[in-house]
Amino acid sequence: MSEDAYRIIAREMNAMETLMRQKLSHSDPFVDEIVRYSLQIGGKRLRPALVFLAGKFIGTVTEQHIQAAAAIELVHTASLIHDDILDGASVRRHLATFNVRWNVQVGVLAGDLLLTKALELITQTSKIEGIHALAGASKRTCEGELQQIGAAGRFDMSQAEYLQIIAGKTAPLLACSVELGALYASATPQVIERFRCFGQKLGLAFQIIDDVLDLVGEANTAGKTLQTDLIQRKPTLPLILYLQKAAENERREILLHIRRDDFNEQSANWVVARLQASGAIDDARAVAWTLLDEAMESLIGIEGDAETKRALSELARFVVEREK
Ligand code: IPE
Ligand code: IPE
Ligand code: MG
Ligand code: MG
Repeated sequence: MSEDAYRIIAREMNAMETLMRQKLSHSDPFVDEIVRYSLQIGGKRLRPALVFLAGKFIGTVTEQHIQAAAAIELVHTASLIHDDILDGASVRRHLATFNVRWNVQVGVLAGDLLLTKALELITQTSKIEGIHALAGASKRTCEGELQQIGAAGRFDMSQAEYLQIIAGKTAPLLACSVELGALYASATPQVIERFRCFGQKLGLAFQIIDDVLDLVGEANTAGKTLQTDLIQRKPTLPLILYLQKAAENERREILLHIRRDDFNEQSANWVVARLQASGAIDDARAVAWTLLDEAMESLIGIEGDAETKRALSELARFVVEREK
């Protein structure tokens, strides 16, 4: 992972982990086991890293940053628990998903509980704009997930429509992370908006790479169930780009495969091989690189700590180069 970027915010990250652990304990052993399970393996902690790096870039990291970062990570974790129910996924962060380890009921309530813990944390911070930003980002995540369900099986989707969906389901939480980082470091409204734009573009690049990894990633490295997008018939960018360029007979053939009632791992591998050979996977990665460039442009000219700025650009590059 992007070690240097995380190294300079190690103290803040530790403080956030401690805070989340304090928040997530309960006197009832069953409830305690459930909430602690959500912290057992951390995940990349990308959103908290964005909060801290944005804050440190502009000024000083405060207790409010730590509370905000914990709140955002809890919203994100809750969204993953629910997403695994929606996607019928069995592995997350190298562990069995809640729906598999327990059942769907436990997963629904564990996600809800983390959301309420996030709410408690963010309302401890002092700025109403921060609370508003997290509420808005959480709302857009749900709307985006719903839009994606509504668009399942619509393989005539354009790149613009795909980007519009991920601009809701994934990007706002990354945008909110850098926005709150800048807000709690008392940046001006103009600078906060520049950070938000950076996070929104980075969030789009992030989801494109996630969708690429869903097809060509390695499950042990990613630590989660892959190829769920094809199984759920979610049109993602590599497939959209393939369908745009393919000849009519190729389009028909690949769609016949995807729409088969007995679509399985073997069919998924066949589709992935097609996408790879056509260059559609590389084309999707190229769109992510362009979005990363656009994200970085939003930060040009913002005054701040040079070492932290380097760390932030390194983390942003990691988003596109990552394998997990
Ligand atoms: C996965 O997010 C879900 C998406 C929004 C694509 P991450 O890749 O940040 O998941 P963790 O937190 O590292 O597990
Ligand atoms: C869901 O996207 C992202 C959320 C906003 C929860 P995915 O379904 O692609 O996420 P993964 O791949 O399961 O992590
Ligand atoms: Mg999923
Ligand atoms: Mg995915």
